[in-house]
Amino acid sequence: MAIERTFSIVKPDAVAKNVIGKIYSRFEDAGLKIVASKMLHLSQEKAEGFYAEHKERPFFADLVAFMTSGPVMVQVLEGENAVLANRELMGATNPKEAAEGTIRRDFADSIDANAVHGSDALASAEREIAYFFSDDEICPRS
Ligand code: PPS
Repeated sequence: MAIERTFSIVKPDAVAKNVIGKIYSRFEDAGLKIVASKMLHLSQEKAEGFYAEHKERPFFADLVAFMTSGPVMVQVLEGENAVLANRELMGATNPKEAAEGTIRRDFADSIDANAVHGSDALASAEREIAYFFSDDEICPRS
């Protein structure tokens, strides 16, 4: 099994609901280790840069407005097949379609405010981690 790193965000809706710890427990209970973590309030520029691949999508402005509406937690998760493992923990983008027991099913209200982000592939994980963390902010634990 490959030890991977993936990038994760606890979005403003979940921070406002005070469920950061509950979401972190989902990661840890699944064997993922938190090897870097910080709270940030994203600027418009930082959020637009992060979601640049979606800038032509009709929801882009709403997505950026939501992601800058309050603080977020950003973290790096490390573990076996971390990218896919985290995607499975998160559930479908739309919480109404998310499987029972997933983070979005349990903590998200809508497709706009869907509690968490997780990298969709190893290449995007590497890019997203580097967008938020310097090497000396990450503490390998495997
Ligand atoms: S796609 O087509 O698979 O790339 O789209 P998806 O990964 O599902 O969504 C990309 C990000 O956009 C968010 N999203 C939305 N925000 C606001 N409104 C609507 N309708 C909407 N649809 C998708 C979605 O939560 C994804 O954000 P992240 O942070 O990557 O989870």
